[in-house]
Amino acid sequence: MKTDLASYKERFEKLLAKTLEDYPVKLSPVWDAVVYAVCAGGKRVRPALAYMGAEIAGGRAEDADSVALAVEFIHNYSLIHDDLPCMDDDDLRRGRPTVHKAFGEGTAVLAGDALLNMAFEHVEGRAARYIARESGMRGMVGGQCLDLANSGGAGVDGAAWLDKINSLKTSALFRAALVGGAIDAGADEKLCHSLENYAEELGKVFQIVDDLLDALADESVLGKSAGQDAKNGKVTYVSLLGVEGAKARAEELNENCKSALLPYGERAEKLISLADELIKRVK
Ligand code: IPE
Ligand code: IPE
Ligand code: MG
Ligand code: MG
Ligand code: MG
Repeated sequence: MKTDLASYKERFEKLLAKTLEDYPVKLSPVWDAVVYAVCAGGKRVRPALAYMGAEIAGGRAEDADSVALAVEFIHNYSLIHDDLPCMDDDDLRRGRPTVHKAFGEGTAVLAGDALLNMAFEHVEGRAARYIARESGMRGMVGGQCLDLANSGGAGVDGAAWLDKINSLKTSALFRAALVGGAIDAGADEKLCHSLENYAEELGKVFQIVDDLLDALADESVLGKSAGQDAKNGKVTYVSLLGVEGAKARAEELNENCKSALLPYGERAEKLISLADELIKRVK
């Protein structure tokens, strides 16, 4: 079974357009920057995870609309801040100038702040607490904090340390989306735990592929500047193990990822296909 990322994406784009339309306060450059950032055609992997989380829990995709919005808002805020000169210093994202290049640094910082808070207008209860934890110091922000220290080759001691960074900076939002969606569809603890294990490995593979693409892919396909990790002196699996070593590590983690859902049989088919699709992605 194919995952049909395209139809989840279509569902999400409609929801997003409607949600942005309904916002009352629009007359500010910060709002223009928010719209510029979130309507730039990302892959929408995290919303798809939220929808698949709801479905494997026995619910419908729409049960995860709020979680899909919240996590995609947080993801976009994380990218705006990640691109700033004080972080990765990137000029290009999704084939266009980064937000600070287009709107200035102050507006970019505030657009990130706005998106983080917009996220929590849409979720509540247990899913909201889960998303908050995975996005903050115990999740994505904590990972970005370690990643910031990972420049010029300092602060990273081997594969276990890299796994830690990737787990926090990337897997955390995958967990937020998938488990958040499952929670809102009434998932039990056992399923949430299996989904956490799956998202943990899926996120790590996703980041290794991102690092491989940074080293190997063409800017015109990628939509972001290539060679950024080497420029910033980041330790990645590519710098640590070489291209073939990094690919082998991604394959190994992808097998762990899929085995986390084996007990769920047919119910897990879409998520298992997703892992095999994402490892082959070219952007
Ligand atoms: C980029 O995420 C940041 C990483 C965690 C590697 P995506 O590759 O999901 O970015 P978009 O949203 O599709 O642009
Ligand atoms: C970003 O990782 C992870 C975040 C939490 C934002 P990267 O710095 O490798 O992402 P890109 O390559 O800029 O999209
Ligand atoms: Mg970064
Ligand atoms: Mg970056
Ligand atoms: Mg990258």
